[in-house]
Amino acid sequence: MYCLEFAGEAADEPIAALEAERAAASAVDRVAPGLATARGLRVDRAPTLAYTRRASELLGRTAADADDAAALLEAASIERTGTVAVRARNVRSSADVSTAAAERDLGTVLVDRGFAVDLEDPDHELRAVFADDVCLVGWQVAERAATFGSRAPTDRPFFQPGSMAPVDARAYVNLAAGPALPDATVFDPMCGTGGLLLEAGLIGARAFGSDAQWKMARGTAENLAGFLPDARWDVVRGDATALPFADGVADAVVFDAPYGRQSKVAGHELESLVGGALGEAARVAPSCVLVGDRSYEDAARDAGWTVEARFERRVHGSLTRHVHVLGRG
Ligand SMILES: C[S@@+](CC[C@H](N)C(=O)[O-])C[C@H]1O[C@@H](n2cnc3c(N)ncnc32)[C@H](O)[C@@H]1O
Repeated sequence: MYCLEFAGEAADEPIAALEAERAAASAVDRVAPGLATARGLRVDRAPTLAYTRRASELLGRTAADADDAAALLEAASIERTGTVAVRARNVRSSADVSTAAAERDLGTVLVDRGFAVDLEDPDHELRAVFADDVCLVGWQVAERAATFGSRAPTDRPFFQPGSMAPVDARAYVNLAAGPALPDATVFDPMCGTGGLLLEAGLIGARAFGSDAQWKMARGTAENLAGFLPDARWDVVRGDATALPFADGVADAVVFDAPYGRQSKVAGHELESLVGGALGEAARVAPSCVLVGDRSYEDAARDAGWTVEARFERRVHGSLTRHVHVLGRG
């Protein structure tokens, strides 16, 4: 069993759980704010998740009490050698516990069992995560980078307002292509500045995309060349409703449809554009994530998709993103 610590807001936990389950974990079960257990974990994939910050091999679960956590650790078998550090966390201050006291008590147990403490660069890090009335104790096995900041859209060679945050783009790629990663081919038929393809390429997928506008297709190519110098990727200009590709060329399609105000591109009305693009997506791949400013559930079903999940994410007052996770059922 594993413990997953989610990143971000409470409202995003359902999407975090599904992302983890699609791309790295099995049987994900949310147990408290910001915390889940998983039965299995592809440890090498865990650091590529957007909304899971850390994963630990679970020693056990107790009440949110430092003494209980210490008793669990005393009774646990530990087949590790080397130095250790204990890190305790109180998720969103939801538990009535002192993390300093918990770190001291758990550290004492480990020292009594013969371990040397190294807070700077330990061989093993013990996590004690408290949330509401639960504590999960485990050895950390994966951690994702604290920020995606070095890839901020504004720092890329080609930037346009409205580019998606890298952390969100990463999650959508994982939701679409998760089971097939890293040997997946991921296609974005409305690639814009290439934010989704960049995240796909960074986690090992072969990325290819198209956009109706030359400016965007060229901009995506510039961004991919800048950040994926050694990867295989392709970008062409093309209409998402009439793709120049054979059936089944991709493992997953992921795209961010134009929002209402930018809808008159390539002569399509928004609803027919997205409906046509969903039909083409179903022809070229067995899995799809569509992000848009409204629900496209009916259009997705009309195009032959099964709607496996839909999430609504408020961006600001006048924009809520709808994230559709689509499969062939
Ligand atoms: C919301 S943007 C995508 C943003 C992108 N995810 C990013 O990170 O920059 C939508 C894109 O769809 C493209 N588009 C609009 N109509 C299209 C069509 N018929 N075929 C292909 N692309 C189209 C637009 O040119 C625009 O770049």
